Amino acid sequence: MPDLCRGTDMADNENANSSEYEEDTESEEPDSEDIGPIVITSRPQELELLKQLMTVNDKSFEELQLPPKVVRSTQKAWDSFVGVFERKEGAADSIYGAFFDAAPNLQGMFRAPRATMGLRILAGISQFVGSAHEPAQLRRHVEAIAFNHLDLDVTAPRVEIFREATMEVFDLELGALFGTRARFGLSAIMTYAGGAYIFARKEYAGRIRILLRSWNTAAKKGETVEQIEDLDSKSDDDEEEEEVAQEHVQADANLKSQDGTGKNPQLKVPTTFDEMFLFNAAVMGYANSTWMKFILEYFDPIVSNVANSYRLQEECDVLSLNLAKCKGDINLPEFKAVMLASLRSLVPKEWNSQHEVAWNWLWENVERLLRQQLGKPRAHQKALERFIGGLQQEHLTSYCRDQYKRFFQLAPSGQDFFKQSTTRLYFIAEKIVEMTVEMYRTPKKMVEELSGLGLRHVGYGVPTELFSPYVTSAVEVIRGMTTDDHTQTAFAWSLTLIAKIMVRTLVEGSTVVMQAINTNIEKNLKKAIAVAPRGKRAMELLNITVGTQSISPLYWAIESGSLVCAQAMIEDLLTIRADRDNYYFGADALFTRHPEVIKKLSSSAPSLLDPLLEGLIWRSRVISNGYRRVNCYCKHLMQDVDGNHHQALQWLVEYGNPVMISQFTVVLVADLMWTRLVAYHFLLGRCYFLFTLCLAVTSQSFLSIPSAMHRSETLEANIVVFICRVFLYLGSMCKILYTQIRSFVADCKSGAIDRTYYIPIPQYLFSLQSGGNFMLFWLLVGMCTTEPLWRCGAFSTTEDHIIFSTHCQSVLDDGTKRVYSMFSCLAILLYWTLLLDFSIFSMHISAYVLVFGRVLSEVALFIMALVFLVISYSTAIMALEHELLDFADFGTWLLSLTQMSLAMFPQVYYQEFEKEANLLVVVIAFVLIVSVILVNLLVAQLNQAYQHVYTDMQGYARLNRASVIVTTLEGISAKRWARFLQGMKFDERLEFNEGDVGLPGGVQIMEPAATNIVTVDSIRRFGGSSAVAMPWPEEDDSMEDRFDRLEKLIMTSVKKMGKSRKSKKKDGGSSNILSTLGGEASSDGSGSGGSD
Ligand code: HEM
Repeated sequence: MPDLCRGTDMADNENANSSEYEEDTESEEPDSEDIGPIVITSRPQELELLKQLMTVNDKSFEELQLPPKVVRSTQKAWDSFVGVFERKEGAADSIYGAFFDAAPNLQGMFRAPRATMGLRILAGISQFVGSAHEPAQLRRHVEAIAFNHLDLDVTAPRVEIFREATMEVFDLELGALFGTRARFGLSAIMTYAGGAYIFARKEYAGRIRILLRSWNTAAKKGETVEQIEDLDSKSDDDEEEEEVAQEHVQADANLKSQDGTGKNPQLKVPTTFDEMFLFNAAVMGYANSTWMKFILEYFDPIVSNVANSYRLQEECDVLSLNLAKCKGDINLPEFKAVMLASLRSLVPKEWNSQHEVAWNWLWENVERLLRQQLGKPRAHQKALERFIGGLQQEHLTSYCRDQYKRFFQLAPSGQDFFKQSTTRLYFIAEKIVEMTVEMYRTPKKMVEELSGLGLRHVGYGVPTELFSPYVTSAVEVIRGMTTDDHTQTAFAWSLTLIAKIMVRTLVEGSTVVMQAINTNIEKNLKKAIAVAPRGKRAMELLNITVGTQSISPLYWAIESGSLVCAQAMIEDLLTIRADRDNYYFGADALFTRHPEVIKKLSSSAPSLLDPLLEGLIWRSRVISNGYRRVNCYCKHLMQDVDGNHHQALQWLVEYGNPVMISQFTVVLVADLMWTRLVAYHFLLGRCYFLFTLCLAVTSQSFLSIPSAMHRSETLEANIVVFICRVFLYLGSMCKILYTQIRSFVADCKSGAIDRTYYIPIPQYLFSLQSGGNFMLFWLLVGMCTTEPLWRCGAFSTTEDHIIFSTHCQSVLDDGTKRVYSMFSCLAILLYWTLLLDFSIFSMHISAYVLVFGRVLSEVALFIMALVFLVISYSTAIMALEHELLDFADFGTWLLSLTQMSLAMFPQVYYQEFEKEANLLVVVIAFVLIVSVILVNLLVAQLNQAYQHVYTDMQGYARLNRASVIVTTLEGISAKRWARFLQGMKFDERLEFNEGDVGLPGGVQIMEPAATNIVTVDSIRRFGGSSAVAMPWPEEDDSMEDRFDRLEKLIMTSVKKMGKSRKSKKKDGGSSNILSTLGGEASSDGSGSGGSD
């Protein structure tokens, strides 16, 4: 009897359970009428049938008919098994553990975290057992889960392993309660399901092909436009259909306008799947079903990943979160109807019954996956929000502590990644908790963010295996904090989805280059990139895209401080490589991917600026007439992708490094811009200023007559002075006011305000020109308000005065003329000072002016010390008793001591001091300190400062010119700029050597051969295949590599010699090395010792 109900695999348990089976059968005698289609007429037949059921059947997928008594026993045993555990998680864990331990080599198949995966397996088997009495229902359940196994390599032996593992757990937990019927039932169900998975995999491969091919036609290409047009023209014949068509168009318009596109749909024939879908949805009366658009958005990833159940589940999960945001009923079959109608229109030629079956099958599965979650996310979100909102800080802290503790227990290697401070770790853990709620709130945004986060984890070098224990630990700790089922499920589900998305990003983003960057070893990076196809080599260093998010390995290397690798990457990108057909140079790729790379480097890794700028230069090895060709690929430092001027120069000016601005490429760029474009513009702009200066000097210096000269005014001079001054006030003062207001407003808007000693100062005032203009403006205002012209009011010639007089008695009497003349004097000085920016025409003069400016601070120190001494000595002398009446007050002493310091004090007064010995001593002490110490100190300071500044003098001059170029460029018209670019001929290829036409994007100059000695051509040329998909052939080993190999060889030889010596001692053989090696070789049987 016992044999009867067991398959061959169960033979081992036979004896153990025979008695109990007998009890079972005694109490529940099989009734052939109850059994259904499988009619068991006799015991041998029954045995045969049961044996069949124990064999994995992957040839067909029919309904499984089990005897009712077997079903009942199985369901009872299942309930008892689940009931053994306090919570279903316990049961889930024990089954998962059994699976996991039974086949260590299959553990990779379980990609979800243990807590989640276990529950899923439990739910699946539970569903099967629960529906075992309804074969059709059971088949549907098994088919649904088979869909999730499409990308897993399920085989008959593996099914048996899992089945036996389950039996063992049941034996363990239920003992004698696990009867033979139940054992048979459960085994049969599991065998049936396993066979179905294998069958589905084979069977569905064809369907998947059909799906993908037809989707490609429908969604990507829109090749079938003509067909749609045909359909339209046919419908024209029929009036009724025409009306319908108009309705379609109207409905489409409604749908589109809801969509926010606002375009006139009558002008557009639907060519893509989305357009056709919206059109059909409108026609079929679903114009208001906004939820369809959500599905439509995810439809492409869903179909494209039909064969990847893991990803399909992920897409459906995210979609279900989005659908939860829709108001109103969601009727999924409606989507299917519109979908099929759209596909039929877009794939009319190939469409057949197989397509119908395949798309129906896909949709059924998608619908099933969606239904699992439909309606749940809102409740989950509420439960989770309530729970997290109610958490106190101490609860959160204890969660974080327990979570990491548990995680490190589950995965000790996790500690190698979480080495940060506890506060940082807690911060991350809290952030992750927040993310679980955020996933429900804004799923779309979160998916984007998670891709980015996943890519950052690629940078942290996190292995994917650690995600599962991480989620398990978090879920376990949350379970300990709440008993609410909703909250637990909501948290676990959300975190699992998050981890799933991150793991996928991690897998897609973990390129060998990223792994090499994490080591920060140049050799590793070179090895990693060596295998890249030559056509894609540059992009492998610059871009990794996952979904809508991308990460740049180069930027990652910079940000994570792997500067060795970053430098190697820049050097690799800017190495010119060539096969017979093409030149390869990564400058275009680099600047297109990172137009702001100069800014990035100057702020984050200035040491890499030099390799970058150097990499843009190629120097020929060939010398002709004492000159060599130099190609400088500077296009991307001059123009951006839109053809406007590039900000590279501005960033270098902001970086403010005189060495970097003097780099060959930068100098060339700046000089080209200056000589060909900016210098002329600059001069043109300054002409007006020059003219104003001339007017100012004429009216204020040459034609104004000082009162002391007692000359009379002339009519002509007065008219000229009047015109000049009116021009100064209107043309200069008002213009300066206008530019100052503009700059002020711009700085205020952009918040460019500095606080110096708590005084807010707009940044524009810190430039010499703007600051000088600001002061000039106020001096001109002073001149205008005290202007003698207005005060004399002589606007016509009378007997007393001539027209435009500035020397009337009233202004002389009230002293305003003097005030005016002070303003005028200072304004003229300022005008001349502002003229100094003309010095940038010559780097030499500019450098001199800059040095002058830079050493001024030393002079300021001297003046400060002098003022201090003058005041202190003046007050000290005032305290002295003396008889010199001319030197009785403080002011006289201030003036006298200042004059003495500057050697302007009249000699005669010194003789007077001789009468007062004490006074003389103090004066001598003062003169001694000032002229011997202070003045010489000043000379020494100036000397030192000059030497310090001198080395970078040219660099500062270049910085100054570059900043003028940058500001002048802003005012240059687009037309002029375009003409300048045209003149640069960046699209013309530059010759490397005669007849060897190379790469475009630069300028060629001839350089005296002695300036830079070049002995090796920097272009790496390779023979062999010139296919773009081929990697570059391996280059010659570096010296370092050769030394490494030599070192290894020596080490192994030494080891072998050591070994053989020992064995020789044992053998008592001779000391001859050769014989030793030979002996070893023969004893090893390898012979390698000898050859080494
Ligand atoms: C569901 C799984 C996970 C989520 C949602 C997650 C999320 C985060 C977040 C939000 C950060 C903050 C910093 C940033 O934005 O880059 C972070 C940092 C980090 N994570 Fe994860 N993480 C997960 C799993 C893991 C695992 C399993 C490891 C490795 C054992 C890991 C290692 C790291 C490391 C090393 C950092 C950098 C810490 C730092 O220096 O700032 N993460 N993670």
